[in-house]
Amino acid sequence: MVAIARSLFASAQRRAFSSSSATAYKVAVLGAAGGIGQPLSLLLKLNDKVTDLALYDLRGAPGVAADVSHVPTNSTVAGYLPDNDGLKTALTGTDVILIPAGIPRKPGMTRDDLFNTNASIVRDLAKAAAEYAPKAFVLVIANPVNSTVPIVSEVFKSKGVYDPKRLFGVTTLDVLRSSRFISQIVGTDPKAEPVPVVGGHSGVTIVPLLSQSNHPELEGETRDALVHRIQFGGDEVVKAKDGAGSATLSMAQAAARFADSLLTSLSGTPVTEPTFVDSPLFKDEGIEFFASKVTLGPSGAETIHPLGEISEYEATLVEAAKVDLKKNIAKGIKFVAENP
Ligand code: LMR
Repeated sequence: MVAIARSLFASAQRRAFSSSSATAYKVAVLGAAGGIGQPLSLLLKLNDKVTDLALYDLRGAPGVAADVSHVPTNSTVAGYLPDNDGLKTALTGTDVILIPAGIPRKPGMTRDDLFNTNASIVRDLAKAAAEYAPKAFVLVIANPVNSTVPIVSEVFKSKGVYDPKRLFGVTTLDVLRSSRFISQIVGTDPKAEPVPVVGGHSGVTIVPLLSQSNHPELEGETRDALVHRIQFGGDEVVKAKDGAGSATLSMAQAAARFADSLLTSLSGTPVTEPTFVDSPLFKDEGIEFFASKVTLGPSGAETIHPLGEISEYEATLVEAAKVDLKKNIAKGIKFVAENP
């Protein structure tokens, strides 16, 4: 009770502060002691837009909080466990929630193979978010993202607090991999190689639009190998980690970058990034969520951009993506209907 009162007081102070400075936000990481959660917490601690960092996990979060709290930036950091209403306190007054919680893949597994374990973890965290931070922006990292994002939306709908503009599947790692992999081919700085990536976040649902990159000239086997590497880049890491999990460091950096883009746009400077959102683009085909370029602003996903002009080759990739996406999304929706 005292902890919640304190959290509310801090939140009120923060909001008072935010009227003079638009960059003051409480950010919560759910799953903060895990492989992604720890580096993500560190990167958020380094972000000056984050003024309060709430780190929650089933175990280990207070240790991670104590550790990153020594990083010399001004934000407060607190770690929470399930006891003493830890999740409630972590979420109360939160502006942005990142959810990396869940188990990672092992070699030979697809992201969809994580569904049985991660679906209920994400559902339960979404229930808490809907109750204690219904207005927060929710950034889902937990796989399979194509299904866990619909799970969060169904939970929020069931609680009457769903705002489609506030829910995001983080697909930034696909964007970063595209920049990096293309730069390795053409020998440039990855930072100067933006590539829009659309669709979803697994296998063939990941569709890099190279025709809209700086290198539409890439063709044939080079292009095919690049697209395949982007679509299955996660598998490279899973294989190399040899049973010890999947991408954690690059995923943390990707999630921190997306969080920073959102915080920047909440503060009034719009940022456009690909992300997996409740999208009108293919709703008439029964596909409720789709990743495309989205302009972020104070209300969240403000403009969802169409795919624009794409090549015939890319149109084929988009068609293949839609087939899997439809199934992945339906699976998440069905899960919540059957396991509310
Ligand atoms: C990734 O893209 O690396 C993550 O989604 C983790 C995974 O399972 O591949």
